[in-house]
Amino acid sequence: MGMTSRWIDTRTSNETVPDPLAISNWDHIEIYCDNARQAAHFYMWGFGFRPIAYRGPETGHRESASYVLAQGEIRLVLTSPLSPRHPIASQLLFHGDTVHSIALTVPHCEAYYHEAMLRGASSASAPCLLEDEHGQVKMASIRTYGDVQHPLVERGSYKGAFLPGFVPYERFFKVPSGLPNAGLTAIDHVVGNVELGAMQPWVDFYAKTLGFSQMQKFSDQDISTEYSALMSRVMADGSGKVKFPINEPAQGRRKSQIDEYLQFHQGPGVQHIALRTNDIISTVTSLRNQGIHFLRVPATYYDEVPKRVGEIKQDLMKVKELGILVDRDDEGYLLQLFTKPLQDRPTLFFELIQREGSRGFGIGNFKALFEAIEREQALRGNL
Ligand code: FE2
Repeated sequence: MGMTSRWIDTRTSNETVPDPLAISNWDHIEIYCDNARQAAHFYMWGFGFRPIAYRGPETGHRESASYVLAQGEIRLVLTSPLSPRHPIASQLLFHGDTVHSIALTVPHCEAYYHEAMLRGASSASAPCLLEDEHGQVKMASIRTYGDVQHPLVERGSYKGAFLPGFVPYERFFKVPSGLPNAGLTAIDHVVGNVELGAMQPWVDFYAKTLGFSQMQKFSDQDISTEYSALMSRVMADGSGKVKFPINEPAQGRRKSQIDEYLQFHQGPGVQHIALRTNDIISTVTSLRNQGIHFLRVPATYYDEVPKRVGEIKQDLMKVKELGILVDRDDEGYLLQLFTKPLQDRPTLFFELIQREGSRGFGIGNFKALFEAIEREQALRGNL
């Protein structure tokens, strides 16, 4: 395998680039799991991900095992520790299965890292050069809310299966035949839940430290039901590709869904990952067949849809039958649907989204959606 890694001697690197905080795209999302081998099965058979790479004891990596799954442009990395002394083990004990990192592909890893450091970011790891027979990758990592990190990945012309140190999945495992086609194409946005009072500081972090700008803001008036409320701001990078909504709980008559998350996750973290599809009808049909569970809005939700949303290309009967939500704004419309939590703790879930011109987040669905979440919260005894 011959994987090597070394710190980049930053005293000799005087790279100057016009836009050090440029981001090319999402790179991957790493989820810490109690049992990554079994979780991989769930994401493959439930959501149609394909296994592409592996790193573990068989590759000479003795501390943890990671499975890399891909679909469209999306890459998910599922990682489990192999001993209780590994730092991942204590994170799992606190958070349960949890998003550890939202990695970004950047054109200039060192320049990004140093600019972020100058602007007050906190380092998770300094720039490092990783190398194997397929080429070199530069990586560094900075901290964000909770225990979440943003690895910065400069891939250059790297040709391997994923990153140096990983081998193609089929070197040790058989790729199952008959995996479903779910039609997921890309990551759309990744949402963080933070404590009351922490939203603005994290908005400032993305704005001042990473050069993001605020795309949208929702107050507790926009996002409240009879029982609970939350506030949200959406931060986007210069390209508009990378979007990070950040939520905090707001005062309501009962416990906010964000409070429930914070309690079960033992602190801030990623609430949901929105994945894009070009055909949500076939995506949701496939996922429902594979046993994925979704939040349900009442059938009466669809009585208002024609008036609120107007003409859509999709068959409204199908949309209703599958429980898909629809919303419209000035630019177009969108269809979306939210899974139930992906693990026993009511923490991380997925959103599926099809955009037909709209760049929004489905504000017209918030009330129906949050009432659906509250019914689930009440079932769990947490409302
Ligand atoms: Fe979302």
